[in-house]
Amino acid sequence: MSKFHVELKKVVDDTYDVEIGKKLVPTFIRDLKRGLDCGVKKMAVITDSNVEERYAGPICEALMEAGYSAELFVFPAGEKSKVRSVKEMLEDAMLERGYRRDCMVIAVGGGVVSDLAGFLAGTYGRGVPFINYATTLLAAADAAIGGKTAVDTPLATNLIGLIYQPKKVYVDIDTWKTLPREHMINGLAETVKHGCLGDIELFEYLEKNTEKILACDEEACTYISEHNCNVKYQIVMKDEREKSLREVLNLGHTVGRAIETVSDYRLLHGEAVSIGLAAQARLGAKHRYMTLNECDRVIELLKHIGLPVSIPDYIDREALIKKLYTDKKVRGGKLRFVFQKRIGGVMSFDGGESYAREVSEDEIRRIIEDM
Ligand code: GLY
Repeated sequence: MSKFHVELKKVVDDTYDVEIGKKLVPTFIRDLKRGLDCGVKKMAVITDSNVEERYAGPICEALMEAGYSAELFVFPAGEKSKVRSVKEMLEDAMLERGYRRDCMVIAVGGGVVSDLAGFLAGTYGRGVPFINYATTLLAAADAAIGGKTAVDTPLATNLIGLIYQPKKVYVDIDTWKTLPREHMINGLAETVKHGCLGDIELFEYLEKNTEKILACDEEACTYISEHNCNVKYQIVMKDEREKSLREVLNLGHTVGRAIETVSDYRLLHGEAVSIGLAAQARLGAKHRYMTLNECDRVIELLKHIGLPVSIPDYIDREALIKKLYTDKKVRGGKLRFVFQKRIGGVMSFDGGESYAREVSEDEIRRIIEDM
């Protein structure tokens, strides 16, 4: 017998910037020229059919004008494209077009694009650099920041993926002007989540400025983008790999993700998260983690924004309860939830060791029946 000891300790520097502003393509090109391109000349611009013409095409042209080789790789818009087969289709197209390890992925679009393209970048050639150019509020608030990438499976959302940080994120708030109002409303759910769990000032700002945000007022959109980044990255910088604290970013997602899948994506992600936020608030008030008045404030804010707070009739309640068990926080077959503490904080359990606690099926069944 012999043994070879492999010593592979790593120190990784995944530091990067999130740039928030308007019409950021010239800034992006300037950054590439100043070293963000990692010495790469071949760019794969991955996007969906919604933003291909308006944003990804012009970015591709700007890259070519700047001397890069760039091509568009487009897939049909919608959550149903966030699957392994679409990733495979994009990978095969890139291989066919001669993309090897010396390339960079530029994800232009919303959350589906950043999740799918980021996962692709993390596995393509065992990992190539990528940039997120976020064109929706949902991506700016959550999906494009923090490094989580994934695809959905028939069982549940986001079960297969990587934590793979981008080289830079651009949050171009000017692009929100072309979003249908329904998608601005949808995007605000993750922003409400951040207010609930980590920023009472943001929560109060949302209560007072919903209309300004929905009208894409520059100051209001910049304010929420900065606060979203601050809440999220304060957590991600402490627990990037979700060993414990990062679970709090799952607030509202236990019921949210389950209902999104059971609705077969009839509910947008933010709409599903909104229902999940209302469910955790009701459950939290029962456990006295928040007052009834605070619970009402959360529900009122979601309603005021135009988000749903009750479970649509077409949702099969039993299927929803069964689907809760696909949540990644489940341990030993038991459902676990994270809870906000009052407004702007999170509950911790087990002497501060854990941020999620078990909830019995009966208890969540009662909340679901009430909703
Ligand atoms: N979307 C939750 C997280 O990034 O951890």
